Amino acid sequence: MADLRNNFVGIKSPNPFWLASAPPTDKAYNVERAFKAGWGGVVWKTLGEEGPPVVNVNGPRYGAIWGADRRLLGLNNIELITDRDLYVNLREMKQVKMNWPDRALIASIMVPCEENAWKAILPLVEETGADGIELNFGCPHGMSERGMGSAVGQVPEYIEMVVRWCKQYTRMPVITKLTPNITDIRKPARAAKAGGTDAVSLINTINSITSVNLDTFSPEPSIDGRGSHGGYCGPAVKPIALNMVAEIARDPETHGLPISGIGGITTWRDAAEFLALGAGNVQVCTAAMTYGFKIVQEMISGLSDWMDAKGHRTLDDICGRAVPNVTDWQYLNLNYVAKAKIDQDACIKCGRCHIACEDTSHQAITQFVNGVRHFEVIEEECVGCNLCVNVCPVSNCITMEPLAAGTVDKRTGKPVDPNYANWTTHPNNPMARQAAE
Ligand SMILES: Cc1cc2nc3c(=O)[nH]c(=O)nc-3n(C[C@H](O)[C@H](O)[C@H](O)COP(=O)(O)O)c2cc1C
Ligand code: SF4
Ligand code: SF4
Repeated sequence: MADLRNNFVGIKSPNPFWLASAPPTDKAYNVERAFKAGWGGVVWKTLGEEGPPVVNVNGPRYGAIWGADRRLLGLNNIELITDRDLYVNLREMKQVKMNWPDRALIASIMVPCEENAWKAILPLVEETGADGIELNFGCPHGMSERGMGSAVGQVPEYIEMVVRWCKQYTRMPVITKLTPNITDIRKPARAAKAGGTDAVSLINTINSITSVNLDTFSPEPSIDGRGSHGGYCGPAVKPIALNMVAEIARDPETHGLPISGIGGITTWRDAAEFLALGAGNVQVCTAAMTYGFKIVQEMISGLSDWMDAKGHRTLDDICGRAVPNVTDWQYLNLNYVAKAKIDQDACIKCGRCHIACEDTSHQAITQFVNGVRHFEVIEEECVGCNLCVNVCPVSNCITMEPLAAGTVDKRTGKPVDPNYANWTTHPNNPMARQAAE
């Protein structure tokens, strides 16, 4: 049976599934039940500095995007960091850590970008026995207008400075949580590394407005007729998060820096993808908020079964395995040729593939053959774009079939070249032409 034990920057947990800092981790009552359900660790809901806690709105704080079956695809929130007293949180954290010594307990922290503020809170957190801290440089709403959260995460110099303070004033491992609300994620990751961070975690939420009420003309969620931008998360953000994780994993300057992957993880498969792209473990928020704590049991059994089936014994066998396969467009093999193929037995003749290919791709799927409704790929026209696969409502009805080397591509009339060749050497590339001249 696969060994799911995780060691992330020296923080041990029985599995790689941690709950991200958010409502599921905002009190002992929740965290205890999460641990009972099987979560390997939690990042406690972000703590603020000593004094009167922050104040949340007293109305709706969520907006959402749903699929046609009402499945939650994206969640937007305008919640702030914890609105509970700092010392209540610290007491509860200490008790929970004592009750669950084998689970990871990380304290998320967001205080003003001033050395004394960090210097003051770190010993208080250390005293709880927490396994590490996560610096919240990510929340894009409310706190960022006060110079914290993503306001720090968007300025690499601030990140480096605060990480340095934390490394100076605590022995606990430091995880720097990055905001995706930035053009190039490698820059904050490099800054965190320069400051001495032990790891980065990403992504926090993406700035968003999910909808506008067309009766009141108020953005949702609406607080007395007005709305504000919030933070977007859930399955919809997974592709953005995966790319950012991969960017950091393959950047020569940050390669090897431990990454805790976050963003839309709902199934074991999502988690495995993050691990394959270089994450050392994963964090989950929206899936737990949507389906409850016990969803971790499916994640654990699914990951374990898959690892057994594939012969992967430990997480190290999969972590980072996909990173060498991420490349830039210019290095993709232009001699690789694939064609769409429709399984006539599976086809329900809905016609979506024909419309998509006819109107926006390469007019390569029939609608009628000999006067009979029939959907078939015209190989002479098919460029292998796979749009039809993605619009077909029947899974595996359309597949992409690579052409073997030497086979004549009916579209170009040329045999498929067995050799790898990319844009950098392509005769149509003006740069390549210049280099050859
Ligand atoms: C209601 C809500 C509150 C959140 N509060 C925090 C927070 O206090 N600190 C933090 O670092 N991230 C916070 N997050 C962000 C999550 O930790 C996580 O980074 C994000 O939701 C992406 O993961 P997901 O797609 O699994 O939800 C919050 C998210 C939600 C939905
Ligand atoms: S792969 Fe693209 S070009 Fe080929 S049939 Fe499908 S949509 Fe048309
Ligand atoms: S979209 Fe799929 S099911 Fe519909 S006609 Fe095309 S191949 Fe058949």
